[in-house]
Amino acid sequence: LADEAQARFTAAVDAAALEEARVAFLGAKAGKLRQSQKGLGKVPPADKPAAGKRFNEVKTLVEAAFEGAQARLTSGETSSGEAFDVTLPGKARRIGHLHPITQTIRSMKEIMGRLGFTAVEGPEIEDEWHNFEALNIPLVHPARDPLDNFYLGGENAAAEAASPLLLRSQTSTVQIRVMESTPPPVRIISLGRVYRPDTADATHYPMFHQIEGLLVDRGVTMADLKSVLRLFCQSYFGGDNEVHIRFRPSFFPFTEPSVEVDMNWQGGWMEMGGAGMVDPNVLRAVGYDPEEVTGFAFGLGVERVCMRQHGITDIRAIYQNDVRFLEQF
Ligand code: PHE
Repeated sequence: LADEAQARFTAAVDAAALEEARVAFLGAKAGKLRQSQKGLGKVPPADKPAAGKRFNEVKTLVEAAFEGAQARLTSGETSSGEAFDVTLPGKARRIGHLHPITQTIRSMKEIMGRLGFTAVEGPEIEDEWHNFEALNIPLVHPARDPLDNFYLGGENAAAEAASPLLLRSQTSTVQIRVMESTPPPVRIISLGRVYRPDTADATHYPMFHQIEGLLVDRGVTMADLKSVLRLFCQSYFGGDNEVHIRFRPSFFPFTEPSVEVDMNWQGGWMEMGGAGMVDPNVLRAVGYDPEEVTGFAFGLGVERVCMRQHGITDIRAIYQNDVRFLEQF
């Protein structure tokens, strides 16, 4: 009986078949063990101890065989009886990654670092000296209009305070901070947030990022500016294609001459930001001698570069934090 049970248990390929075999042998009412236990009653009294002992031995063997078969099935099979394929790939955990703007910033820092520019940071809350005054933007200049800037402390407080603070409207503030604290030569970039009270649309957002570049040394010219920007764009976008830079005459209070910077793109031109030769007034404001050194500065829109790189058509998508959008980068 024990051998027979062992064979049946071993042959069971799933939990249902094993249960059937268990009922056949170990079933409390009609199992084969129960049957032979009943048969013990008919054994002559003299033989009863030996027969009882033998019954218990067989019972132990059958139970052990069942437990063995059960262990074999549960280790290799799911409870539904389906085979468990240990070669299936595991469930991948969803992990996050860097925001597209962060990726753009990192790669810009890396490229400009190779060109010898050190990345520095400046505060996002600025005073009027660094955001305007030292940048040759006088008190009467329209760029200082309270409606075009995020002044802190409410309208009255801003008007009354001797030195009102504002969220910086450009990273050019960092030019001043660096030159104030370092003698020439300087060769820096600064990447960070700037704020302007624009209504958000496909191309505007009240907060965006700029990459500011500043190089001041003896004999720096506009040709240096153009070649640095060209090298930068070539490294960032170029691949196998040659990248061209175009300057259009423009005006900024802190550069003279000033230009708008365009980059060739898909048969046309893409505007990237502003640049120029650092105005002598700015050099004087930070204690540099414009007869000794000259410099160039540029300020490019980080979102713009990121959008063109990935074909993003609406700047608002970058800041909506929709994972379906962010997952793509
Ligand atoms: N600060 C200018 C802007 O915000 C860009 C700029 C930077 C222009 C440096 C010239 C030199 O538009």
